[in-house]
Amino acid sequence: FPIHKPKEMDWTFAGPFGTFDKGQLQRGLKVYKEVCSACHSMNLVAFRTLEDLGYSEAQVKAFAAEYEVQDGPNADGEMFTRKALPGDYFPSPFANSAAAAAANNGAAPPDFSLIAKARGVERGFPTFVFDIFTMYASNGPDYIHALLTGYDEQPPAGMEIAEGTHYNPYFVGGKSLAMAKPLSDGQVTYEDGSPETVEQYSRDVSAFLMWAAEPHLEARKQTGFAVMIFLVLFAGLVYATKRKVWANVA
Ligand code: HEM
Repeated sequence: FPIHKPKEMDWTFAGPFGTFDKGQLQRGLKVYKEVCSACHSMNLVAFRTLEDLGYSEAQVKAFAAEYEVQDGPNADGEMFTRKALPGDYFPSPFANSAAAAAANNGAAPPDFSLIAKARGVERGFPTFVFDIFTMYASNGPDYIHALLTGYDEQPPAGMEIAEGTHYNPYFVGGKSLAMAKPLSDGQVTYEDGSPETVEQYSRDVSAFLMWAAEPHLEARKQTGFAVMIFLVLFAGLVYATKRKVWANVA
């Protein structure tokens, strides 16, 4: 059965001069925290990096304290749980991947740290030239957005939907997936007046996951651009040198 191509979205962070929209990242974090983090870990992302999203040190500390992490062993050789600190990483909601799979019909929810890059494949010219420097896969976020908004279609005739799985024409697995539609309108409250719709939540959490996967994207784009200018100037210099060196050769 055919897999649908994700719709190309207009991301603020796309293109050679793209930047993240901090308001959007903050909303995406809220969607991740209130919805996705029930199943998906993000264990390469430390709470302290949330300062990138415009939060103060104190806000990050308070945010981290809402999570519990495993620590130890203590002086008695025992493991214990404690409130998370800014230096800790987003914890996994499950004890291990076997427990994660058991709770989800056999398919463990993937970790989110790099998911926005792991699912990005096709890129168009000229974006791909900058991608070399920025490692920005333009359709990773397109895919996540399409997957989250793509649950309402009917499966094609003849397609078997295994029990406990859900049809989604965008799923790269090419079959029904173990994740049920995670978002519904009004589920997450936004304080900045943005629409509380599946469409808006999906955009925001996709942008947030791009930041999680590539937090230094803006700096990489700037470096990429400077490198391009350097290469053009250097090519001119090499050409001028070549002409001079060979000027007297008949
Ligand atoms: C898989 C996103 C919430 C359970 C996935 C995938 C993405 C994703 C991008 C990977 C699909 C692929 O392999 O191409 C999200 C987002 C969420 C969310 C953005 C929040 C808005 C949840 C929740 C649960 C869940 C709340 C559990 C109740 C799963 C499972 C899979 C999965 C079990 C593996 C599916 C399979 O391979 O069959 N999710 N998810 N997700 N998710 Fe979620």
